[in-house]
Amino acid sequence: MFAIDLPPIPRYHPTSMRVSRRLEAVQSPVIPIVGDLIRATPGCISLGQGVVHYPPPPQAARRAAAFAAGSDHTYKPVGGFPELLELLAAKHRAENGFDPAKPGRALLVTAGGNMAFNNAMLAIADPGDEIILPTPYYFNHEMAITIANCKPVLVPVDDHHQLRPAALRAAITPRTRAIVTISPNNPTGAVYPESALREVNAICRDAGIYHICDEAYEYFTWDGAAHFSAASIPGSESHTISLYSLSKSHGFAAWRIGWMVIPEHLLAAVRKIQDTILICPPVVSQHAAIGALEAGRAWCDARIAEIAAVRAMVLNELEPLAGVASIPRADGAFYFLIDVHTKLRAMNVVERLVTEYGVGVLPGDTFGVGGCALRIAYGALTRDRAAEAVGRLVRGLKGIVQ
Ligand SMILES: Cc1ncc(COP(=O)(O)O)c(C=O)c1O
Repeated sequence: MFAIDLPPIPRYHPTSMRVSRRLEAVQSPVIPIVGDLIRATPGCISLGQGVVHYPPPPQAARRAAAFAAGSDHTYKPVGGFPELLELLAAKHRAENGFDPAKPGRALLVTAGGNMAFNNAMLAIADPGDEIILPTPYYFNHEMAITIANCKPVLVPVDDHHQLRPAALRAAITPRTRAIVTISPNNPTGAVYPESALREVNAICRDAGIYHICDEAYEYFTWDGAAHFSAASIPGSESHTISLYSLSKSHGFAAWRIGWMVIPEHLLAAVRKIQDTILICPPVVSQHAAIGALEAGRAWCDARIAEIAAVRAMVLNELEPLAGVASIPRADGAFYFLIDVHTKLRAMNVVERLVTEYGVGVLPGDTFGVGGCALRIAYGALTRDRAAEAVGRLVRGLKGIVQ
């Protein structure tokens, strides 16, 4: 036996174990915090959750059950299996005015839209690079950028929650890798007109950066507003990354299916990332997704019509807030981002709304907005529940602010 004399292991970190500085810089999502508060308050109704009230179409459950009863439970292709990819390509040809199967583009199924955004970050940006986010932003986008060691560059939208293309252009630096647009928008509900999205797409093309378009709410447009996919612009294929999700449209939040249409030159990079993190999108959910897509858009539209009725009621019930809050136009998604006229902190108001008035909303700080902005989400509630919740909200805000 030899006794090897090794030097003592140097202890470089006197405070013992710690999380990375990168993650320390990432905001903690507020939804679970408000969620805990709501759950701890008996009878509280949540206007906080960004989900729809309906489950997936029955075809999805049937497809999932058939898969579960089968004998092949192995890994499948990293970017999704061909039958689903073909259905998604057909959807884009029919509904979005572009063909992801044409040369220059590639289509990958992901485990949800959030994963698609994370894939995009890792594929296009190096540490220290900048990503431009119109603000209010979707908090998971801001978090994903920071997790990728990149810098979110925040460019406020205008008073009507619309894009300011000149300001976006002015924010571009040599480190900029992309501008992100979400239309219809979370958290504002704004729908960006085709002209604005064309302008941003052209700015990205001319600057040699990517235009990342999050279209998770594409089916949720109201009062004649029209959704526009920048990927339908001729020549956009080399700089446009389009992100989609079944979570909202098909009641699929739990099933984790999204997808991304990317420039073909990014395919190898995204496949490396997805192979390492996921290996393949959950196969049972891909089968369910095939069922969901077979149900077709008409199935979604029938349920979305119910949300339209809830929205009309919410708008009506919010009217007495005139003078207490401003309610910018919101022609899409299932959100209103209202600006309450008070010097109180938004989180403070949220806590009082939950504990004293029994209604939960999200504070604007989580979306990068100052003042006392509150996000109202109305997609998850039936008309009666939403009416009760908005009644409490109006009473609460009047009571707190006046
Ligand atoms: C703009 C936006 N993109 C993506 C997502 C997440 O979608 P998924 O459930 O597909 O990850 C959400 C969820 O709220 C969202 O609001």
